[in-house]
Amino acid sequence: MESIEQHTGKKICIVGASGKLGRYMVQHALDRGYEVVGVCREQSVHKLDDFAGRITVHGGDTNDRAVIERAVEGCDAVLAVLVPWGVNDYSSGTARAVIDFAEPGARLVFSCGWHITRDGRDRYSWKIKAAVAFARFLRFTRLIDLDDQYRAADLIFASDTRWTLVRGSDLEEGPSQGLPVWSRHVGDPVLASNMTRRTDFALFMVEAAADDTLVHEAPAIVGCRTPSALAHRRQAA
Ligand SMILES: NC(=O)c1ccc[n+]([C@@H]2O[C@H](COP(=O)([O-])OP(=O)(O)OC[C@H]3O[C@@H](n4cnc5c(N)ncnc54)[C@H](OP(=O)(O)O)[C@@H]3O)[C@@H](O)[C@H]2O)c1
Repeated sequence: MESIEQHTGKKICIVGASGKLGRYMVQHALDRGYEVVGVCREQSVHKLDDFAGRITVHGGDTNDRAVIERAVEGCDAVLAVLVPWGVNDYSSGTARAVIDFAEPGARLVFSCGWHITRDGRDRYSWKIKAAVAFARFLRFTRLIDLDDQYRAADLIFASDTRWTLVRGSDLEEGPSQGLPVWSRHVGDPVLASNMTRRTDFALFMVEAAADDTLVHEAPAIVGCRTPSALAHRRQAA
């Protein structure tokens, strides 16, 4: 079995810990010896029962500044799930609180989807463009505000913290295939398969916390065993 690098003595905060991505991140972080602090909505604290006694949980909205201030204290890294739920700046409020209260020098790793672009040089398929247009249209339901996730990304890109914004492809469940591969721009051939196992998205987030080569990068990721990733590896060999 491959040995896993241990980070015993380091503390990591996972903001949005109760979601699917969040719970995978908690497990990967525990496997790597981190002391784990989780933040999730009060009504979701029970979703972390499997980790009872092994992690500290702060109940509260992830854009609640007082909750984030307490949770990130003393943490070497903060991993934050950005979701555009509601119309109350949930994503941008979460990003702003993490940026404002994380310890100086802490590694900050945020999650979003491929639709976020850093430099405008991503090339999107009509399917992604249509999905984004539809999601934006849904703001009228007041359930989701995709533009707020763009505002969150702008805050992160402009920040002088040690950030990484991980951009996820479409996701599927299933056992880990290993650390996803990444590229700077959607549209690069390596990413063509547009699929990542959710547990591997979480693995990338956790590994990024200890990978300084990803500071100030917005990697777009894809599963390492997808056809496009394998074809890219064959070409590079
Ligand atoms: N789904 C995809 O195909 C996909 C693709 C690319 C990238 N991503 C990115 O991956 C990350 C997580 O995606 P996921 O699909 O795996 O979801 P997830 O882990 O299940 O995360 C959903 C998060 O949203 C929270 N949430 C749900 N309803 C909410 C509400 N009404 N108000 C506030 N928070 C609410 C959940 O908290 P509770 O536990 O409290 O409900 C949880 O933290 C996001 O950053 C997303 O942009 C997803």
